[in-house]
Amino acid sequence: MMQASDLSAFNTLGLTCHAKQVVVLQDLAQMAELGPLLAQGPQGLVLGAGSNVVLPSTLPSLVVRVALKGITLAQSAGDHWLIDVAAGENWHDWVVTATANGWWGLENLGLIPGTVGAAPVQNIGAYGVELCQRIESVTAWQVTEQKYVTLSRAECGFGYRDSIFKRARRGEWLIVSVRFALAKAWQPVLTYPDLARHPQLSLASQAVTAQDVLDAVCAVRRRKLPDPAILGNAGSFFKNPVVSAAQHAALQVRFPQLVAYAQKDGSFKLAAGWLIEQCGFKGMRSGAVGVHAQQALVLVNYGGAQATELLALADTIRQAVQTSFGVTLEIEPVIV
Ligand code: EPU
Repeated sequence: MMQASDLSAFNTLGLTCHAKQVVVLQDLAQMAELGPLLAQGPQGLVLGAGSNVVLPSTLPSLVVRVALKGITLAQSAGDHWLIDVAAGENWHDWVVTATANGWWGLENLGLIPGTVGAAPVQNIGAYGVELCQRIESVTAWQVTEQKYVTLSRAECGFGYRDSIFKRARRGEWLIVSVRFALAKAWQPVLTYPDLARHPQLSLASQAVTAQDVLDAVCAVRRRKLPDPAILGNAGSFFKNPVVSAAQHAALQVRFPQLVAYAQKDGSFKLAAGWLIEQCGFKGMRSGAVGVHAQQALVLVNYGGAQATELLALADTIRQAVQTSFGVTLEIEPVIV
């Protein structure tokens, strides 16, 4: 099925993007025609809900919007359920469904914008849980090989906001479904500061239900993060930078308030939002783009912005953080 080529309603930053051709993938039977078309090139683009991409104003290639639907309880595997979820399912709706069914482990990931198929690409994570801890495998169409491949969790090469799907050549993988491994026994994860100090979660941890955690996570997100339906954004625009113990120690001497989290390997992850706020950007606006007033890590489009304007602001921020702290920020969403 072909669609009008303006993608501004199909990316949460609300950037105007005129694509050559857009196909909505609703049924895997379409792959018989679409597979060869994608393999011919030029490089296509696979889009879920467009919540983690920066689109250019024109895109001279084929765009596939993945709208595959379906949730199937595949099997019981020891202390887990294995559940297959089609790539086009809305992420948050899936989290709500899983919680209602007693398939535990996704509560901390509530209200993240986007689709199930996009979730493995950047290995979504929030409030102490990362997607890679909850999945069994990913099934994807490999464009150049023109075949389906099921990759185990290890084969997906997950890292912090990273995977082989994110590192691959653009449009190489079209994720069609994700197999989740969700716990039969409920075990809350309340380590993240925003949850540890949340009034509704201060009961003995056995008394906290999955619904309590999901509700608390949604409340925290609504407070800090702008709703893309109201204000264009792609969540965090930069990754939290990881620095060595020595660099962390040196920074802490100069900036005693520095916000940092010790990592298992001895390095430290710095809160990029704090660094950006210290440089004075929080709540600033420049033309159609700006820095969110409640979370300095989130860049916003007030309406009518183009990718160039947004990336120019990102560059200004990166330079300021580099100058003040000697730390290099890396952009988190996929720049097309
Ligand atoms: N902070 C500030 N000023 C700010 C923002 C943050 O000082 O403007 C400091 C505060 O000390 C705050 C700390 O940074 O306590 C951490 O902030 P927050 O809890 O909002 O989390 P984050 O590190 O900024 C990361 C993820 C988010 C995720 C949250 C919660 C990345 C790039 N971002 O943000 O993910 O929701 O943790 O787990 O890792 C996303 O990837 O798009 C995203 C929103």
